[in-house]
Amino acid sequence: MIFDLETNEKGNLSIGGADALELVAKYKTPLYVVDEDKIRDNYRRLYNAFYSKYQDFKIFYACKANTNLAVMRILEQEGSCIDAVSIGEIYIALKAGFDPSRILFTGNNVKDDELKFAISSGATVNIDSISQLKRLSKITDPSKHKISFRINPNVGAGHHEHCITGGELSKFGIMEEEAVEVYNMAQNLGFQPTGIHTHIGSGILDPEPFMLAVEKLMDVAGRVHEDAGVEFEFIDFGGGLGIPYHPDESKLDIEVFSKEITDLFKEKLSQYDLKNPSMYLEPGRYIVGDASVLLTKVNTIKNSYRKFAGIDAGFNTLIRPAMYGSYHHIVVANQPHEKPNQKIDIAGNVCESGDLFARDRPMPEIREGDVLAILNVGAYSFSMSSQYNSRPRPAEVLLRDCKDEIIRERESFDDLLYRQNIPSRLLK
Ligand code: LLP
Repeated sequence: MIFDLETNEKGNLSIGGADALELVAKYKTPLYVVDEDKIRDNYRRLYNAFYSKYQDFKIFYACKANTNLAVMRILEQEGSCIDAVSIGEIYIALKAGFDPSRILFTGNNVKDDELKFAISSGATVNIDSISQLKRLSKITDPSKHKISFRINPNVGAGHHEHCITGGELSKFGIMEEEAVEVYNMAQNLGFQPTGIHTHIGSGILDPEPFMLAVEKLMDVAGRVHEDAGVEFEFIDFGGGLGIPYHPDESKLDIEVFSKEITDLFKEKLSQYDLKNPSMYLEPGRYIVGDASVLLTKVNTIKNSYRKFAGIDAGFNTLIRPAMYGSYHHIVVANQPHEKPNQKIDIAGNVCESGDLFARDRPMPEIREGDVLAILNVGAYSFSMSSQYNSRPRPAEVLLRDCKDEIIRERESFDDLLYRQNIPSRLLK
């Protein structure tokens, strides 16, 4: 078993030193539980692996994975920078105390108002299209801004086709063949382009495509340096580092991965005489993915044509299984190490047949009233939740040193009505 499931003296699942069943008694279900130490450990492991091999290294936490302010504060304290993909994320990062110099804004299909907001916030703008470059030049004084470009190196990877962001089908970035032209164009418009970026996809456990993207981006950077005379202050390889969700998957060997990348990076720096730019990575999932558990209660055992365990969460709470067919390991919180003795479907409470967390999942006996723990829900889980079926979103609790603190209140019915307005004619 790859997931280090801790149990306490009662045999119950323990998260950050707290008993999962006691947390449920206190906060009800569904409940997101975040383990602060895991976030800090993940950040430090990744940072140290790269920093020990290339000192000018920075992590830009991809906050789309989890924008809870407490999570953001933890990463601010760790010294992280922020990858923001919307002005809402810039706003949250600023609220969480990040200096704008630590925010890189990589928007996609951005409107002028959003560009204005990003520029005036002081974040660095990473440009995704020629349209965006031209519009940016009209709404600001280019000489005042350092910019970078997102390049599509025509290689992509990811755990699902929706999560592949490089290659010919991808809407992201600027074609590698166009790079020199675009950097020249930026300089002619008066900008100071100082960075280059790529992000080829998400959930990558095989280092090979990532390495290929590193190589291709470095070759593009070399050409841009030679042909457009750009001196790079940073080279950003994006995020995408995967984590195991299934017990049969293995972790990325981060020591080997960091060595391969930094070796190639240094080799290409000297090949193209690129001086010593900073190296950036933009991990989201790797930092927060395994740091949260979703606790949910079984309210129905149903023997229909199939056997179902019905729980009080749905794809409104956690959409990854329904959206990508993603596997999330599930254990029974009062006996997390119990061996399976049946196969069962674990279904949510949303009125859609696609609302399934697992089909034919080997599980031990499950009874009504049991608490199930859905693992590895720190990334793209709460941040992708919704109120669909008019269910208030769950609470989030942070654990550190066995102490639980609420970091997001459970929503109420009032939140379902928030900002709605009934025209007076309809009240007659
Ligand atoms: N940088 C950029 C520009 C990105 O678009 C992303 C993710 C990342 C970094 C971070 O990727 P990560 O290290 O977390 O893989 N909802 C999907 C994942 C979508 C990721 C979108 N972009 C999921 O649940 O798997």
